[in-house]
Amino acid sequence: MAQLIGNDPGHLVRTARAIGRLAPCAGIDINLGCPAPTVCGKQAGGALLRNHDLIRRIVFELRPVVPGRLSLKTRLGYESTDEFGALLDLFASLPLDSLAIHGRTVRERYQSDVHTAEIARAVATLPYPVVANGSIVSVASARAMLRKTGAAGLMIGRGAIRDPWLFDGIRDSLAGREPRRRRLHEVLAYLRELTDEVTREGDFEKESQIVNRMKKFTNYIASGISGGSLNDELRRATTLAGYEASCIRHLDNDEFFAEEPGEDGTLFCGIHDLGRTD
Ligand SMILES: Cc1cc2nc3c(=O)[nH]c(=O)nc-3n(C[C@H](O)[C@H](O)[C@H](O)COP(=O)(O)O)c2cc1C
Repeated sequence: MAQLIGNDPGHLVRTARAIGRLAPCAGIDINLGCPAPTVCGKQAGGALLRNHDLIRRIVFELRPVVPGRLSLKTRLGYESTDEFGALLDLFASLPLDSLAIHGRTVRERYQSDVHTAEIARAVATLPYPVVANGSIVSVASARAMLRKTGAAGLMIGRGAIRDPWLFDGIRDSLAGREPRRRRLHEVLAYLRELTDEVTREGDFEKESQIVNRMKKFTNYIASGISGGSLNDELRRATTLAGYEASCIRHLDNDEFFAEEPGEDGTLFCGIHDLGRTD
């Protein structure tokens, strides 16, 4: 799948065609959820949720040129979940293959509890599969999301950056197998692999730029490890050697990697709503 973000049906059609010429692509997804001011300021991403006619035009113009799957990734509204009923009427009338729902409004960004009842309402209403998204960070929260919404699938963002084994764990659990718990030395190996990949693929002039790029990932990965002190150290790192030394100090051991991230109040809010209540 390739995801497009924009608001001009003609541009989106041209881009979808260009992607189709470049590589085999399972389908096209349109972003109706990004809350970044630079994106919403251009009336794209989440801002499109305020313009139903434009969403309709985009979908109907893309449908004939997308041979594969056509889907939307949405939130529950721009300002308020009260907008979701009218959005559902719109989505139900569109020729889509699926809809992914991040269970928050644009205003709520990433921090509020996830409105699972609204996702369940979409599952009950729409004639095609709904994929549930928002604050799935563990096998328990994935199972809770499925139980509460009845969604056909799950989409995982921050939780998968933190724990790339989460998909295996969820599959194991749903198949009745005990998910394998990971140990901190496996997290160390993951971080080394990620550092190599970032170094190889990025166009960096200075070592500090690689370190800064890695911090965007370790913010999530190291959340809660050693009571937060690994992240504190990594945020101060300026060289790859210093970064690696901190990782080795905290991760080169057999302790278990926590099943859920340590909640520091900024990165993974909303998980308690999903994971621990019914
Ligand atoms: C750093 C970052 C980048 C993101 N980029 C995109 C994106 O390009 N397209 C998209 O649909 N959502 C994007 N999202 C939103 C996620 O797909 C997801 O909807 C949101 O993070 C909530 O799910 P989560 O709790 O599993 O992370 C991004 C989120 C983060 C934190």
